[in-house]
Amino acid sequence: MKYEKEISRRRTFAIISHPDAGKTTLTEKLLLFGGAIQTAGAVKSNKIKKHATSDFMEIERQRGISVATSVMTFEYKDCLINLLDTPGHKDFAEDTYRTLTAVDSVILVIDSVNGVEAQTRRLMEVCRMRDTPVIVFINKMDRDGKHRFDLLEEIEKELKLALHPMTWPINSGKDFKGVYDLHEKSLVLFTANTKADDEDALTIENLNDTLLDNKVGESDAQHLRDDVELIDGVHGELNVEEYLQGKVAPVFFGSAVNNFGVREMLNTFIRIAPIPRSRETSTRIVEVDEDKFSGFIFKIHANLDPKHRDRIGFMRVCSGRFERNKYYHHVRLNKDIRFSNPYSFLARSKDVIEDAYPGDVVGLFDTGNFKIGDTLTEGENFYFVGIPTFSPEIFKELVNKDPMKTKQLEKGIQQLTDEGVAQLFTQHGGNKKIIGCVGDLQFEVIQYRLLHEYSAACEFRTLPFYKACWLTTTNEKKLEDFLRFKQMNSAEDKDGHPVYLAQSEWFLNTEITNNPDIQFHFTSEVHK
Ligand code: G4P
Repeated sequence: MKYEKEISRRRTFAIISHPDAGKTTLTEKLLLFGGAIQTAGAVKSNKIKKHATSDFMEIERQRGISVATSVMTFEYKDCLINLLDTPGHKDFAEDTYRTLTAVDSVILVIDSVNGVEAQTRRLMEVCRMRDTPVIVFINKMDRDGKHRFDLLEEIEKELKLALHPMTWPINSGKDFKGVYDLHEKSLVLFTANTKADDEDALTIENLNDTLLDNKVGESDAQHLRDDVELIDGVHGELNVEEYLQGKVAPVFFGSAVNNFGVREMLNTFIRIAPIPRSRETSTRIVEVDEDKFSGFIFKIHANLDPKHRDRIGFMRVCSGRFERNKYYHHVRLNKDIRFSNPYSFLARSKDVIEDAYPGDVVGLFDTGNFKIGDTLTEGENFYFVGIPTFSPEIFKELVNKDPMKTKQLEKGIQQLTDEGVAQLFTQHGGNKKIIGCVGDLQFEVIQYRLLHEYSAACEFRTLPFYKACWLTTTNEKKLEDFLRFKQMNSAEDKDGHPVYLAQSEWFLNTEITNNPDIQFHFTSEVHK
């Protein structure tokens, strides 16, 4: 095990949340702990402001930020932490789903006032598909939120996730007095705007220590004793193995904006969060400690300058050691390429790096070789599995407004869909180009970028589809017939795989029932 030391100090994760729950604020506090930034306010929110959906400067601003903050690497207590950023806007959710394929664990932020929200649910579904270990941070305890037990029950029920409290709050809102650390058995009193290096934990002998009554008052002290007795009785010690299997999620209470409760979580995170693990491929399990390098592209970012078509591919290293200037095998294209300027994302600078290890994310300049999901190896042919494309939710026909620019439009849409901005389907028979996205904002981005980067004018015509299903069969004739009969509803995805476009859940269920020889899949994973 050549690289064991490097592998064991790495933690690669993402923070996920419904917009406004506090992801940016928590990110900033973690970077402060890691010494990667010096002042609060240094991390820019990557969300697109509510009223700016058609303001393209805002979209460009967001793209700029999202390049800068895509990966934030910092050190904390000998650990090398790679924090992968996820877009704040729901219309870019697919980008988030893909990023989740490149992390080993997540921290889920929940607003104590709003509880579980729409985006929280969807993100957790993606985590569950991969059994990603989750730590929950219940934020905004300084606001009058839901009752702590109700909140836990809501999260457990709505997210189908067993919870294990690691800290326990004393009240919330203006009566919030702090948290009791169930693991360290210490009391951490709430002080607003706690600095990163403050030592504010108070050791108490046990919960009957009168110091507790002195600090929080008799009534709250008694409540805490009762709560802790109940929790200890139910939960006991955290079973780390169950956390690593994605079965149990440790929970912390705090207030990110006040930097409260964050350190307790970070300390636990580096203690229990998974180090990079072995990964499944199309042919075999690739062990993380193999000598030979392998990695995959999970995100592609276009250059902000439209004159330069080069892009940045974000590659997650899965095994071995990645080296600058060494030739690697691009499995899909069956060609060897090398990278003279790979860079890392140490928070303050984009540095050209000489090498990288499992868990690291490397930025690779790309002139059009990469698609999301591409694999690089030292010669072996396999694909990493579990990097699926999910069904879009809005479908529109792409209409060319300038026949003189057909070529530019074709090239532009090809490249934008390679980047994962949207999905492209070609309708059978008619050659109609159908663009599928998760949110309306993406159509605006596509239209804007096609015009500014490819000089191609287009518009969109709404289509009545609600879901795309990838089709497989063991009876080719049946599938052929189905596609012919359902010509208006069938298409090919970008890689030529057959797809059924359903108008509604009812139609979809009917087709599933009527066609037992055809399998309907909700992700493209089946074709890997
Ligand atoms: P996001 O990235 O998940 O979308 O959330 P973000 O961190 O931007 O936080 C959303 C809002 O919630 C921000 O206020 C932020 O200051 C506030 N916030 C974060 N953590 C806490 C907390 O522990 N307690 C309270 N009371 N508020 C918190 P904003 O007014 O939208 O922005 P700003 O002007 O304060 O930056």
